[in-house]
Amino acid sequence: MTPKVFTKLLSLLVLLLVLHTLVMEFVFRRLVEHSAGVDLHLLGREALWSGLIALAVAIPIAAWVASRISVRLRRVVSFARSIADGDLSARLDQPGDDDLSAMEAALNQTAERLGRSFAEIESRRQELAAMLDSMQEAVVAITPEGYVRWSNAVMQRIAGTQIRPGRTLVHSVRDPEVLACVRGALENREVRFGRASSLAPGRIFEINAAPLPSGGALVVLHDVTRIEAAEKSRRDFIANVSHELRTPLTSIQGYVETLVEDPNSNPETTREFLAVILKNATRMNRLTEDLLALASVESPDYKLTLQPARASALVHDAIQSLGGIVVDSKVELESSGAPDALVMADPDAMNQVFGNLIENALKYGDAGKRIRVGARLLTSEAATEVQFTVQDFGPGIAFEHLGRIFERFYRIDKARSRDSGGTGLGLAIVKHIVQAHGGRIWAESELGSGAQFHFTLPLAPAAVGEKTAPPNA
Ligand SMILES: Nc1ncnc2c1ncn2[C@@H]1O[C@H](COP(=O)(O)OP(=O)(O)O)[C@@H](O)[C@H]1O
Ligand SMILES: [Mg+2]
Repeated sequence: MTPKVFTKLLSLLVLLLVLHTLVMEFVFRRLVEHSAGVDLHLLGREALWSGLIALAVAIPIAAWVASRISVRLRRVVSFARSIADGDLSARLDQPGDDDLSAMEAALNQTAERLGRSFAEIESRRQELAAMLDSMQEAVVAITPEGYVRWSNAVMQRIAGTQIRPGRTLVHSVRDPEVLACVRGALENREVRFGRASSLAPGRIFEINAAPLPSGGALVVLHDVTRIEAAEKSRRDFIANVSHELRTPLTSIQGYVETLVEDPNSNPETTREFLAVILKNATRMNRLTEDLLALASVESPDYKLTLQPARASALVHDAIQSLGGIVVDSKVELESSGAPDALVMADPDAMNQVFGNLIENALKYGDAGKRIRVGARLLTSEAATEVQFTVQDFGPGIAFEHLGRIFERFYRIDKARSRDSGGTGLGLAIVKHIVQAHGGRIWAESELGSGAQFHFTLPLAPAAVGEKTAPPNA
């Protein structure tokens, strides 16, 4: 195209020069006609020569001018191509102050503005992508034809490599509820809500699919697994509490009604009935006490008064203060030894922990006739801590119950637990107290050989790294 422009410019200049020569010859002819005695042919030849000389001088000049313009135009064309290819850093030289230079300056300015606008758009796009990636919700944008346009990091984590821009949503996400909501949003141009349970194993998502003004749809998936689990746990808890309260209450109501209806019943029966009423009232009282204790240790405001205490002293105190309840049962409560290492512990909370564990050992493991309480230093790669153990030699706990006995209201033998005044909340309370200390709790058992309840407490800061005394016998 540019050589064409060059040729056209050159042809135009040559045409102008030929026209000029012809006009000059015509003027000369007219001049000669009016002036007598002048050699016409001589004048004509001179005019022709002068025209030819002018032509010979003008053609190279015209060619030079045309080639300069052509070079600059070629630069403009290559500049335009660079811009079209996305290279917004391309610029034109502006050699003079002619019209072409003004055009080049205007083009440079346009390219610079375009560059700035694109940089701004790109930085906004990156900001938006970072914002969407940092969201807890999964987000995916769909084209009007049902292809994935874009998805955020959470969505990519859920759908894995399946989700890619340009792929159909049907091939990226298999959950039928998600697909139905997207179809609704695309076809009816209205917001659709739903619940996806097969998007990721064991997880539940709330779906919100909204049509986009530019066509297509935006899908937001909110993970509600935890909320649903918490809600279920709350419902189960209320059902359990109601059930636990209703049983003794129904019994109390029945006995009281009988007593009211027959005020003259014999004193022996009345005493019997009153004893049952008292037993049930005590049970309700124990349940409400345990519920209050659990509410307190589960509360975010639960505060421990931590102070350094020797492991050996904690074990000693536990045996001393609980020795009383063991006396009648003919079960022996003994120490299996404990180091003098200093741990951080709240003395009242520790009484609660040992109280619950020893009481359980007594209630469920009394057949073994022996309960051992002790502690030892536990050194792992992560930390050094003290592991406390309450061990009985009773029937033990079957493996399938070991992980569950720390759940609220979980009891292996409900009737036995109730008969012995249990609420099923003791181990749940103990677990929370140990965890509030920064420790762990677990149970080990072999059926027929008794059960061991272990919990750990972190060492007091001063004791960390210090050589601790060997365990007491
Ligand atoms: N030492 C133990 N030996 C056998 N079973 C135990 C022992 N300690 C706890 N359990 C079982 O764990 C269950 C939960 O204990 P806990 O939360 O203290 O409730 P509770 O004692 O009120 O029944 C008990 O009902 C019992 O079945
Ligand atoms: Mg208990």
